[in-house]
Amino acid sequence: MARTCPFSPPERYTELRAQGPLVKATLWNGKETWLVTRYDTVRKLLQDPRISSEPPRLATLAASEDGQSTNFRTFVGMDPPEHGVYRRMLTSYFTVKRVQSMRPAIQRTADELLDRIAATEGPVDLVEALAMPLATAVICELLGVPYDDREFFHSRSAVAIQSSTAEETMAAFMDLYQYLDKLVRAKEAEPDEGIISRLVVDQLRSGALTHEELVNTSVLLLIVGHETSANMIGLGALTLMRRPDVVAELKADPELWSAAVDELLRYHSSADWLRRAAKEDIEIDGTLIKAGDSVIGLAASANRDEHFENPDEFDIHRTERHHLAFGYGPHQCIGQHLAKAELEIAFRTLFDRIPDVVPAAELDDLPFKHDATLFGLYGLPVTFTRP
Ligand code: HEM
Repeated sequence: MARTCPFSPPERYTELRAQGPLVKATLWNGKETWLVTRYDTVRKLLQDPRISSEPPRLATLAASEDGQSTNFRTFVGMDPPEHGVYRRMLTSYFTVKRVQSMRPAIQRTADELLDRIAATEGPVDLVEALAMPLATAVICELLGVPYDDREFFHSRSAVAIQSSTAEETMAAFMDLYQYLDKLVRAKEAEPDEGIISRLVVDQLRSGALTHEELVNTSVLLLIVGHETSANMIGLGALTLMRRPDVVAELKADPELWSAAVDELLRYHSSADWLRRAAKEDIEIDGTLIKAGDSVIGLAASANRDEHFENPDEFDIHRTERHHLAFGYGPHQCIGQHLAKAELEIAFRTLFDRIPDVVPAAELDDLPFKHDATLFGLYGLPVTFTRP
């Protein structure tokens, strides 16, 4: 189901929600799954211990028949209690306090990027000039990955998360694995301040993490750490450029930025599919999910559920901010505070420095990522008068 309007989930989601909180559907590969459409049910299921994230159980959704599209295993594909063991190794790097201390560096990067944009004549691609470099610089700094290698890992990540064939996905993961394998070895010899080195010192040397596990975790963080935020910076900037009234309000009262970022996350829900499988029979909201059944929580549908007042409106004054754009339960996004800081800094700096920035193409001509797992924009041409 593609999105016919870039500001709304696929149209069929409204019908599915009317049909019920859980609807049986047939996937493109002929296999069946449950689609979970409503807010309360998605939340209940995502925190249900009888629901699993382990790849072998998600075979219905895997690129290859045996359910193992790659042998790439990280805590995203583990269930509690094993999941918690690995996740806890990382949580201290992503706390509100830690992110607060990163804000000056994020701001400096945003300022430099906006300096370059403001000095340009003619239209600029905001994805290329702001969204991707900002998100990439932040995760590179955090992990200790050289920013100069971005062309390589951007291209491989893009293949890994687009609807590629099993072979293409596998090859992209292998390239990233080999790249980070080499980098981890270099950090083992000479650790720095990045997360990879910290994991070498605190976890690898004590035997809590194997080399392969550390490389896999690094691949995961590198991919999800830039694609997700970059997509939301592009989508959010587009929405805000089309709502100068909202930007004016935000300038008058910057305290509103935090709520505005949450509302942009809810409104766009760029990470939609939350894939799970039932470990045992689960009776939920009047439906029986059988052991082994595939289940997909539709975050974009849940975020437009009537749980939210006037759900299809973009409203930065919404008081209910518990959206599901970062998922819910044990796998809820570990990078959410970082992502929110990046988004807020990107938007604030953009509209402060270039107040009259507007899209340089009609909506229909913008290249939206209809073919990718994460929704976003491949490019966003903008124009402005030179400040
Ligand atoms: C706007 C940006 C972002 C969005 C919309 C987003 C969305 C999500 C969602 C929906 C999940 C849950 C997946 C599931 O339950 O199946 C998730 C998990 C995760 N996210 Fe994010 N994310 C963003 C930014 C980031 C950043 C910057 C990082 C930093 C490294 C990050 C790291 C992770 C990790 C490691 C997980 C897996 C957590 C676990 O399984 O315990 N994300 N994210």
